[in-house]
Amino acid sequence: MKLQQNSPQDYPLDLGLPWDLPLESWPTAHFVDVARGISRNIVRFTQFRGRIYAIKEIAEHLARHEFQFLRKMQELDAPSVRPVALVTQRRDCPNKALLVTHYLEFSMPYRLIMSESNWEYGYDTLLDALAQLLVWLHLQGIYWGDCSLSNTLFRRDAGKLAAYFVDAETAERRDKLSDGQRELDLMIAQTNLGGELLDLQAGFGLPEGVDPVGVTEDLLRKYHDLWQELTQVEFIALDEQYRVEKRIQRLHDLGYDVEEMEFETTPDGNRLRLVTKVVEPGHHIRLLESLTGERVQSNQARRLLSEIYRYRASVNRTRREAGDMELGEQEAAMQWFQEEYRDALNLIPPDLRHLNDDAETYHQLLEHRWYESERAHRDIGWHDAVSSFVEKILLPQAGQA
Ligand SMILES: Nc1ncnc2c1ncn2[C@@H]1O[C@H](COP(=O)(O)OP(=O)(O)O)[C@@H](O)[C@H]1O
Ligand SMILES: [Mg+2]
Repeated sequence: MKLQQNSPQDYPLDLGLPWDLPLESWPTAHFVDVARGISRNIVRFTQFRGRIYAIKEIAEHLARHEFQFLRKMQELDAPSVRPVALVTQRRDCPNKALLVTHYLEFSMPYRLIMSESNWEYGYDTLLDALAQLLVWLHLQGIYWGDCSLSNTLFRRDAGKLAAYFVDAETAERRDKLSDGQRELDLMIAQTNLGGELLDLQAGFGLPEGVDPVGVTEDLLRKYHDLWQELTQVEFIALDEQYRVEKRIQRLHDLGYDVEEMEFETTPDGNRLRLVTKVVEPGHHIRLLESLTGERVQSNQARRLLSEIYRYRASVNRTRREAGDMELGEQEAAMQWFQEEYRDALNLIPPDLRHLNDDAETYHQLLEHRWYESERAHRDIGWHDAVSSFVEKILLPQAGQA
């Protein structure tokens, strides 16, 4: 058996596992049960030193390709699963390799999201997330070749969903994708998604009014709208400089940073042709990270930033009234982080703190505080908000109530 590690930090995997045997014949005691989607190949999950790993058994050349591809994705900081190791030359299973990835924490396969008891998001949110993922990949020149709901994982992201790329067997990266290649990728997505929804319909049914064909068309529409917004070329009169700023603002609102702007005078000399090149949608993520050191998902970052701005405005109002110096952005962010974010999270019992990532828990807590304060017609404050949040939201989530 030969084991190639992606990075030394991941070492050691459990060398005691029977890596030489076909995955199907491993004793079940090695496996843990997690929420998971449908797979063509054999996929199992195992836990070692507090971490969960996904192990997939596939033909060696595919495993090699996927391993290398996921490494590239990691360099790009892509929303994808992260590779851990590639296991080849297995004594009792020489033709198949094992691809080990980090289990994507807090992720949910679409069947779980769409099951009735969990149906809190709706198709719109699910499709937004999938369209964003496809646009992200295409902007990077990545052709997926097998976009489907079961090859995507979803995580809660402050009232929305964030989509992650999981199955990279068919994916390829080029310098740039042609329109034809993008269209082909979308056609595959549409076929796969349609099939999956028909399966769901035949299985446990779809909510009223949802028709599989309509849903796949919505995906394409969302994709094209976003693509258009991000890549369109604008013509601007020489005295319309403000439109450049507006364009940058619009891209920021969508979560994208502008990497490059190109201005070219039109042949008649009266207007400028503006081409913007965007980088990956991490505008709010990067901003929040620079202010607090925390790295969270996009919508969570947006939510936390608006909390920081609210906090700063309120602290500075008091300071102004007292004749004190006002807080700068960085100072306000650090103070908010310690005094509101951390302190509120620390009030949650440790065994319930890990049901979601911290940013998501905080977002839910804010929602809960707002909701309960509305009901009480007064601001109920952090302490009451946390105890009621634990009792009404977290304990039921943990199955303890
Ligand atoms: N790293 C991971 N984290 C969480 N779930 C995973 C991971 N890898 C695989 N899965 C789950 O296993 C399913 C199948 O994985 P996938 O790579 O699509 O295998 P296949 O090539 O057999 O389709 C996915 O839908 C997903 O639910
Ligand atoms: Mg798959």
